[in-house]
Amino acid sequence: MAPPKPEVVLPLGWECLLSAKFDTWYYHHKESGKSQWVPPEIEEKGDESSSPPLKKAKGGSGDFAAPGPHGGAIHEPSPLEPLRIVAKHPEPSHKSVWFCTELMPNEIIREIYRTERVRDAAGNEHKFRDGVNPAEGMHIYNCVRTNSLTSTLEVGCAMGTSALYICQAMKDGAGGVHVAIDPNQDTQYKSIARANISRAGLDDHFELIRETSYAAMPHLLRNGRKFHLIFIDGWHTFDYTLMDFFFADLLLQVNGLILLDDINHKGVQKCLKYVRTNWPHYEYVADTPAAATMATFRKLSHDKRDWNAHVNF
Ligand SMILES: C[S@@+](CC[C@H](N)C(=O)[O-])C[C@H]1O[C@@H](n2cnc3c(N)ncnc32)[C@H](O)[C@@H]1O
Repeated sequence: MAPPKPEVVLPLGWECLLSAKFDTWYYHHKESGKSQWVPPEIEEKGDESSSPPLKKAKGGSGDFAAPGPHGGAIHEPSPLEPLRIVAKHPEPSHKSVWFCTELMPNEIIREIYRTERVRDAAGNEHKFRDGVNPAEGMHIYNCVRTNSLTSTLEVGCAMGTSALYICQAMKDGAGGVHVAIDPNQDTQYKSIARANISRAGLDDHFELIRETSYAAMPHLLRNGRKFHLIFIDGWHTFDYTLMDFFFADLLLQVNGLILLDDINHKGVQKCLKYVRTNWPHYEYVADTPAAATMATFRKLSHDKRDWNAHVNF
């Protein structure tokens, strides 16, 4: 069954077409022959508070090598190239990963791990908590940087540790925009992720959706958004994690990556088991850095299972 057509208003001359190969919608400009995965004429939005933002990525927003003007035939956009995973990064055995500054690509990240303190926008100090560790952070950084990814999504940003790694990778690499979904940023987390991103000079690469993932992800889908990498680190029950995974699959380009954090939590572990046994369209990538706590999946194709497929797990 084809995915629902995105409800986007298109500028004159553009059409939304279904790619038979990737079972996903793309956008085609009839006159120039340009094709792209993301909706054209994406607007900047000042207000982040309500609907998911539609900001154009710097250095590419998910558009891929559009074919030049053509003489009639419609060319689908190129798929994402198979992504490379950096297998090992330096993790000196003589010291704890929390002290490895070589795994901390900017000063704000180094300060957070060194002091275990963070500051909100008003300058008030708080104890650092809930963030990825430096080995996990560097794995995410490398996935984004090595593959020049420009469009990423995160469920659950807390104090912004993983977002700092992702946005820094974009700044150091091909540019782009990282979208973070978190309903508790301004309440429980006192806007600390926002403040950390600003202090690190990464505002241009960060967008925040202050909603639950179950509200925000369908909205992103309806807007025709597509991502290269999705990091799931939200509410860790089995049902919420699986729901995040389900929408992540629909929002992810073929060849893109899903990273799942905290796989030792019981609910997350169960979800990991379900995906590994029931989703043949994903490859579990073993032997990644931080594999004991964070799972890495590569999307091989769109979902081709029968409507009632099930493998006991
Ligand atoms: C483990 S923390 C995320 C840590 C963050 N990725 C980092 O490395 O700094 C979990 C986050 O999930 C958020 N969260 C909880 N329920 C959520 C939901 N329904 N949708 C999205 N995020 C949710 C919490 O507010 C919290 O910030």
